[in-house]
Amino acid sequence: KENKLWGGRFQESVTDAVERFTESVSFDKALYKHDIMGSRAHASMLAKQGLMSISDKDSILKGLDEIERRIEKGEFVWRTDREDVHMNIEAALTDMIGEPAKKLHTARSRNDQVLTDFRLWCRDAIDSIIERIKYLQVALVTLALENKGLIVPGYTHLQRAQPVLLQHLLLAYVEQLERDAARLLDCRARLNFCPLGACALAGTGLPIDRFMTSKALGFTAPMNNSIDAVSDRDFVLEFLSDNSITAIHLSRLGEEWVLWASEEFGFITPSDSVSTGSSIMPQKKNPDPMELVRGKSARVVGDLVTLLTLCKGLPLAYNRDLQEDKEPVFDSVKTILGMLEVSAEFAQNITFNQERIKNALPAGHLDATTLADYLVKKGVPFRTSHDIVGRSVALCVSKNCQLKDLSLDELRSINPVFDTDVYEFLGVENAVEKFCSYGSTGSACVADQLNYWMAKLEIS
Ligand code: ARG
Repeated sequence: KENKLWGGRFQESVTDAVERFTESVSFDKALYKHDIMGSRAHASMLAKQGLMSISDKDSILKGLDEIERRIEKGEFVWRTDREDVHMNIEAALTDMIGEPAKKLHTARSRNDQVLTDFRLWCRDAIDSIIERIKYLQVALVTLALENKGLIVPGYTHLQRAQPVLLQHLLLAYVEQLERDAARLLDCRARLNFCPLGACALAGTGLPIDRFMTSKALGFTAPMNNSIDAVSDRDFVLEFLSDNSITAIHLSRLGEEWVLWASEEFGFITPSDSVSTGSSIMPQKKNPDPMELVRGKSARVVGDLVTLLTLCKGLPLAYNRDLQEDKEPVFDSVKTILGMLEVSAEFAQNITFNQERIKNALPAGHLDATTLADYLVKKGVPFRTSHDIVGRSVALCVSKNCQLKDLSLDELRSINPVFDTDVYEFLGVENAVEKFCSYGSTGSACVADQLNYWMAKLEIS
C-alpha cells in the first residue's frame, strides 16, 4: 500500500472497510475541472509571491494540463486509496513531475481547497440551470403564442371559478420561473467569494496573496473570515433551497398537465413522443414525463433536507461530516436540469383540444363574477350584487341553464336593476374580456404581458 500524503505520523494503514467508507473520490471526482482550476491559480500565486520557483510553477501547470487531458480522455486512474479528488490529482501530479508537485499544497488545506472547488462548481451549475429555466420559459411562451384567444376555465379549489385566457395561465408559470432564476442569481452573487487561502481554518503565516487567486478564479473577493470560509455551507443550503422552490413549481405544472391530459379534463393531448404505455392495458397512453417531474421534485426537496440535517449539529470549523454535502448537490442539480428539460419538451409536444375545451366552457357559471361587477357598475353595492347573482345562479341551477339563457324578465324578477346591456357581460367570451385591471386576464392585458415576455426572452 502507498504511504498516505499524511503518512508521516502513522504506523499502519487504514482497514479496507474504513477506506471504502471514508473515500469520496467515487463522487467528488466530478469536481476535477474546478480542482485543477484552483490549483493553477494557487500555483501561479505561490510563484508570484516567491513561495515557489517559476520553473516549479511551470512544471506544475504543464502536469495539471496533462492530468486534465487524461481525465477527459478517460485515461486517468482514480484510486480509492487516495481518498478524494484533491489527493488523487496531487498524488498523480507527484507521480508525473516529482519534487515540484510537493510544493503545490503550500499554504493550502483540503478544507479551503474543497470549498473553492465546490463554489466554482455550483457557480457553473447555477448558470446551466438558469439557461434551462429560460429554455422552459421560451417553450411556455411559444405554446401561449400557438393558442391565441383560447379561453379555459380558471379554477379555485379545483372548482370552476372564472374564465381565463390560456395564455394568461401559461404566463403565470413563466413569472414563477423568472423568480426562480432571480433567486439563483442572488445565490450566485452571494456564493461568489473565495475561500482559498483560509487553509485549515486559521489562515497561514506565509505571504500569500488571496486577492490574486480570488481574482484569477473570477470570484468577487476573498472571504473575510478564514474560519467562516471553511465552515460555511449556507451557500449550498441556499442553492438547494432555490432548487427546491423551482422543483415545486415544476411539480405543480406537472400536476396540472397530468390532470389536463386525463379523460375527465381532456384539455390536452400529449404526443406519443412524450407519452408511455402500459404493459397490460393496451389502450393506455400516460403522461409519465410530467408525473416524474412531479415525483422527482421529492428528491430535490430531500436533498435540501439532507443538507440541513447534515449541518445542524456541527461546531466550527471543518468536520468530516461535510464531505456528505456533495452528493445531494450533484443529485439536486442533475434532477432539476432533467425536470426543466423534460417540462420544456412536454410543452413542445402537447396539443390543446380547442373544441372540447370550448364545449366544456358553459358549465360552472364562469361569468357570475362579471355579472356581479355589472351590477356594481349600475350602482348596486357589491354585497348586494353578490346576493342577486347568487339567486340568479340558483335559478339557472333549477332550470339547468346558463346565466345568459335567462330572459330579461326572469333577471328582473330577481332585481329590477337589470337592463338589456346585461347580455354584453354574459357568456365566457364576453366575461373574459371585461377583465381589464393591471395584470388581469382580459386580452389587452395579456397581449401586453405576452409582448413583454417575447421581448425579454427574445422570441420573434
Ligand atoms: N473529501 C473532503 C471533503 O469533501 C475534503 C476535505 C477533507 N479534509 C480533511 N481534513 N479531511 O470534505
